[in-house]
Amino acid sequence: MPKTLLHLDSSPMGEVSVSRHLTAEFVKNWKDANRDGTVVVRDTTISAIPPVDAAWVGAVYTPEAALTAAQRETLALSDTLIAELIAADEYVIGVPMHNFGISSTLKLWIDQIARVNKTFSYATGSPVGLLTGKRATILIASGGSYDAGTVMASYNHVEPYLRTVLGFLGVTDVTVLAAGGAAALNRGADRQTFLEPHVAAVRAQFQPA
Ligand SMILES: Cc1cc2nc3c(=O)[nH]c(=O)nc-3n(C[C@H](O)[C@H](O)[C@H](O)COP(=O)(O)O)c2cc1C
Repeated sequence: MPKTLLHLDSSPMGEVSVSRHLTAEFVKNWKDANRDGTVVVRDTTISAIPPVDAAWVGAVYTPEAALTAAQRETLALSDTLIAELIAADEYVIGVPMHNFGISSTLKLWIDQIARVNKTFSYATGSPVGLLTGKRATILIASGGSYDAGTVMASYNHVEPYLRTVLGFLGVTDVTVLAAGGAAALNRGADRQTFLEPHVAAVRAQFQPA
């Protein structure tokens, strides 16, 4: 059965983005491993994702059959983004650390895809994620390093947050690769040398264990 990969980028830094370089490497390897697969690209920096507002929340909690045309329009982008998640078998998500958390456009995307009875449910009283059977790889780039066990580890709100929110939506098979220390690039470090171990870590995901 041919597979589908959702390739999501959220760095505003275009060609100099570290996370975009790594997601591109992931996609290249994924295509080699899935010759008949499909890659769907979603870029949160160009998708003009609006913040949720009262109209959006009202529409979300209106029964499907009672939705007005205007409410359907309000939910249209959310519907599209959720359909992309449901259709894909795998996700690769490029994430720049901004102010110890995720980028603002990635947060806008998350607010659109976390939807009751679409991607999660409280029907049984406790939360159940509805995006099951998915695999996600998160590629994080940060200026500093936040390795486990270091003083800075507790400043990292990217990995714990994304694991929480993806897990809440049912995505529990999550691999995180972190490219910390990218600030060295601003101090003149060689880009190729910096990227090399992180590119190798991405490639290693496709090598047999
Ligand atoms: C607005 C902004 C905020 C940032 N905040 C942090 C931060 O809190 N911690 C950190 O280690 N690096 C921070 N950085 C550095 C980025 O994480 C680093 O440049 C990383 O490479 C971003 O990923 P990208 O290259 O894919 O855009 C920040 C960069 C920008 C532009």
